[in-house]
Formats: sequence, C-alpha cells, structure tokens
Amino acid sequence: MSERVIPIATPQADATSRTQGGAPSDCPVDGLALDEVRRLLGDVSQHPDLLIEHLHAIQDHVGHLSAAHLAVLAHEMGLAQTEVFEVASFYHHFDFVKEGETAPATLTVRVCDGLACEMAGARELLARLPRLLGGDVRLIASPCLGHCEHAPAVAVGRNPVSPAHVEAVTAAVAAGATRPPPQSLCDYIDYAAYRAAGGYRLLAECTSGKRDAESVIRALEESGLRGPGGAGLPAARKWRNVLAEPGPRLMVVNIDQGEPGTFSDRVLLERDPHRLLEGVLIAAWAVDIERIYIHVRDDYLGCREILANEIESLLLELPLSGLPPIHLRRSAGAYICGEESAMIESIEGKRGLPRHRPPYVAQVGLFGRPTLEQNVETLYWVRDIVEKGAAWFTSHGRRERKGFRSFSVSGRVKKTGVVLAPAGVTARELIEEYCGGMAEGEVFKGYLPGGASGGILPASKADIPLDFGTLESEGCFIGSAAIVVLSDKDDMKDVALNLLRFFEDESCGQCTPCRVGTEKAVALMNEPRWDEALLADLVRVMGDASICGLGQAAMNPVRMVLKHFREDLTGGDMP
Ligand SMILES: Cc1cc2nc3c(=O)[nH]c(=O)nc-3n(C[C@H](O)[C@H](O)[C@H](O)COP(=O)(O)O)c2cc1C
Ligand code: SF4
Repeated sequence: MSERVIPIATPQADATSRTQGGAPSDCPVDGLALDEVRRLLGDVSQHPDLLIEHLHAIQDHVGHLSAAHLAVLAHEMGLAQTEVFEVASFYHHFDFVKEGETAPATLTVRVCDGLACEMAGARELLARLPRLLGGDVRLIASPCLGHCEHAPAVAVGRNPVSPAHVEAVTAAVAAGATRPPPQSLCDYIDYAAYRAAGGYRLLAECTSGKRDAESVIRALEESGLRGPGGAGLPAARKWRNVLAEPGPRLMVVNIDQGEPGTFSDRVLLERDPHRLLEGVLIAAWAVDIERIYIHVRDDYLGCREILANEIESLLLELPLSGLPPIHLRRSAGAYICGEESAMIESIEGKRGLPRHRPPYVAQVGLFGRPTLEQNVETLYWVRDIVEKGAAWFTSHGRRERKGFRSFSVSGRVKKTGVVLAPAGVTARELIEEYCGGMAEGEVFKGYLPGGASGGILPASKADIPLDFGTLESEGCFIGSAAIVVLSDKDDMKDVALNLLRFFEDESCGQCTPCRVGTEKAVALMNEPRWDEALLADLVRVMGDASICGLGQAAMNPVRMVLKHFREDLTGGDMP
C-alpha cells in the first residue's frame, strides 16, 4: 500500500517511501529515543491495542518514524520489533524512515487523485504545484481524501484546503497551516444547541426506564432501516444478533469512510455530531454494550476534533451513569479498514487485514467479543425513527421504496454535495432536482451508483430507483450511495483505470486473487487495446476467490465498461 510522492524542488521530497525494502533488523534500544518516547507517551497504557495511537503520537511530534523509535516502542509495549514494523509500514499515513534515509519534509501537501478529483484537474494541479511550493514541502498524490464536493481536494498537513485552487494551497503552505480549529471548517450544532432542541431526551427516557429496549428495536425493525455502510443489513437484526450473544459485548462506530466519491459521514458529523452520539448511546443501551470504540478516518481531522470536544462536553454535562465508556480511535490511512473486520484488527493495534467469516463479528469481534459495528448514518437515524415513529420514516421514499438516503454527489453536476433524498430517487432526479442539473457544457453520459465498487451505468439507465436491491439485476449496487456523475468529456476506459488503480493501491495484499489481480488488471488496462478475454477471466477469478468485498467488487468498473461503454473501448470504431 503506497502513496505516490511527486518530486518537488526540495532535496527531502522523494525520500519517504516506507514500503520499499524490508523490516529493519533488530535495532538496539537507543537511550535518547527511549527518553523521547517515554516523555511523549507518559504513563498512558502500553496495551498492544494502543500501538497505532502511539505511532501517531510519535509521528505527530517527530514528523516521521525511525527504526530507533520503533525499537523503543516495541521495548516499552512488550512487542517484537517486527510486529511494530509491520504495522508502521502497513498504513499510508505513517512515514517510516530507514537508517541512512533522509526524513520527509516537515509539511506534506496531499492532492487527491481519486476519480472526481482527477476529473476536476488533479493531475494538472499536481504538475503545477512543485514549481509553486517553496521550502520544506513534500507533495503527494493521495487516494480519495473524502472532500469530493470540492474537487480537486487538497490537504495541507491534515487540513483540507477549500476551495482547492493553487492560491489557496500556496497561501496555506506559506502560513504553515497545520491545525486550524474545527470551527474554522464548519459551524456545527454543539452540545448546548442540541440539548436546547430536545436532544438527549430520548436517551434519558431509555435509561430511566420510560422506554424498554424491545420497543426501540421494534421501531427500527418497523422502519426497515438498513445500514448504508455497504452490506445493507437491517439495523434491528444486527442489534438482535449481538444481543443474543453472551456478554460482555462491544460496539464499533465505523467512521473510516474511504470509498472514492463518498463523504456523507463527514458532512453529517460536521452538521450535527450529537445526533450520531445519541444514536450510539441508545444502541449501546439497547444491546447492553460494555465499551464503545469510535474509529475515525485520519483525513477527517475536523470530525475527530469535533467528536473529542463534544464527547467531553457530553461527559461533563450529562449524567451518563451506567452508560459505557467511549474510546475515540484514529485510523492511519487504509481504505480497507472501512471493512468491519479489518477495522477491528486495526483497533486491536494490528494491520488491517480482513478476517475470514464465519465467525461473524456479531459473534467473535473486537478482542474476541460479540461486536455491534455500525455506520454513521445508521446511528444518525435512530433518534428520529424512535421519536417520530417508524411510520414517519417509511412515509418517505419513492417508487415503493422506504426512508431516506444521504447521497454523496460529485462529478459533472452544477451543485455537488451531500443530498438527503428519499430512497428510490433516480440518478436523473438527483441531478435535475437536487444538483441543479449538469454543469455548464456537460452532457450526461453515465454514473457510478455506489462509489468505486458499485459499478458504472450509462445515462440510459438513469431512471432506476436508487436503493438496496434495485441495481443488482444490472450488476451494480448502491453501496455507500456515492453518485459520481460522468459526462461526454469522460472516457470510460480512463474512469475504470482510475478506479482500478485505487483498488490496486488499497488491496491489503492478504489474498492472491486481489493482490495480483488488481495489479494485473491495471497493467492490462494501461494497454491501448484492452485484452477483453484476460480481463473477463480476472473479473471471474477475483469475484469468486477474493476474501473480502474489496477484491470481490474491484472489477465491477471493468465489467460495466465492457458491457455498456464499448464505443470508448474501440475509440469510436465499433468492430
Ligand atoms: C472494502 C470495504 C470498505 C468498506 N468501507 C466502509 C466504510 O467506509 N464505512 C462503513 O460504514 N462501512 C464500510 N464497509 C462495510 C462494513 O464492513 C460494515 O458492513 C458496515 O460498517 C456495517 O455498518 P452498517 O450495517 O451500519 O452499514 C466496507 C466494506 C468493505 C468490504
Ligand atoms: S480481497 Fe483484497 S483487500 Fe480483501 S483480504 Fe483479499 S487482498 Fe485484502
């Protein structure tokens, strides 16, 4: 797994790849590094599950990770050096510097080269920036940053720069912008405002015995609420499954959203973080959860700070006796950690490798305990559904579909952003009614109905209701409800290649069909003429034999280009 470093006019710029070469041979414990790490970590727990948190702490302070730091950390945590190295080298956001290598520049600028950003000129931006960024700056082409509505998205340090044009980037670099407070990013509903509008009343009714868990779970059941994290499992069924397992039970809130084109979790959190937190606490109460882990994507710096502040206010203000403690965890940059079992491995302080199933995480999950893992939006709806009733939720929807979906819309429309729309809305309606139509001069050609993995459909199929189960007959799925709108300016071969490059970079490498298959597919797709027979073979093998959803769905873009966009394959010369 690697990010691509773009050479710029600084000697440190290209000396950072942490995945080249093997683990350092066992390194002696250096006295100075030991003092530094002890000072940094203080008397915080040395339990192995905190390894990633500690690596972040060291890197935030030093700017990178050295062999000496890893050796000291292994020593302090009672781990083998190889265990620490394999974790430090797995995640995109850790910069491991080997003996004799130069440390990376103090400031990193990331330019997203995900699909929406590439369509909006990320490549041109990457080509222009090296001449403009002075000083000690490293420029990196990054996988999707989760800011697709501002494409091409750029982060200076961990801070998104918006709007992303060259002046904004160079101004932020000149100002050494590393950590603006979250309030500068958004104006969200804080604890006081949420309480004043009736927030946490439902939770109080639950914990005081005015409501029982069964009635809350039944409301969810009647609403038909299904998790939008990807698999679309009914929320109530998951709650019941975990509740049926012996305690102690744990809960994981999945905020590691990394599917290209998807940014809804961030926008929901930047608006109303307590709506999520109340949903989390109600779920934890109903399922009798002992501990809650909220795993937040590293690129969502603002969200993490908002959550940290608001959880603190919540604990100060609200008597939460009997409710479980909340642990906020920071991811380290790996799309695969959005997959629930890979996330669990990551929270346990390991590489994010998906687990084989069964057993399911509801049975054997985090630290071997039954675990309720849920997406942000699922929990976001809990308060409204229980307070207003399942009938309120199901009264929304088009074409017999029920409820709402938060669609992340990006690409060639006038207004990009998160659109709250009834389930069953069509892509054409989203574009016309919610996004102001196609952008000036663009002719609607096709769309991704479910992010990078959900397939690609032509404009002629833009009247299909968007929901779980409605796209499968077309070989697609709604997944994270990320709609990327494509126009006549977009060559579908390039679109598919961009998506496959993402999967190649993000494959965790655990299983051969996905590790080798994604690499082979990218090589084949780079050829002027696609070898359709070989690609069709890869579609079959990867779909059948990959361990997890990443490898199983990675070839969907190829499949759909072969099926629907043959004119792009032949450059207009139909055979
Ligand atoms: C490759 C891959 C990436 C995923 N990424 C996410 C993600 O970013 N957010 C998410 O909630 N679920 C993601 N999922 C789905 C999770 O595994 C899990 O089903 C989900 O978090 C459960 O929550 P829900 O039932 O509330 O949707 C991903 C799955 C796969 C296979
Ligand atoms: S399918 Fe890909 S991402 Fe999933 S376990 Fe296999 S190698 Fe890892």
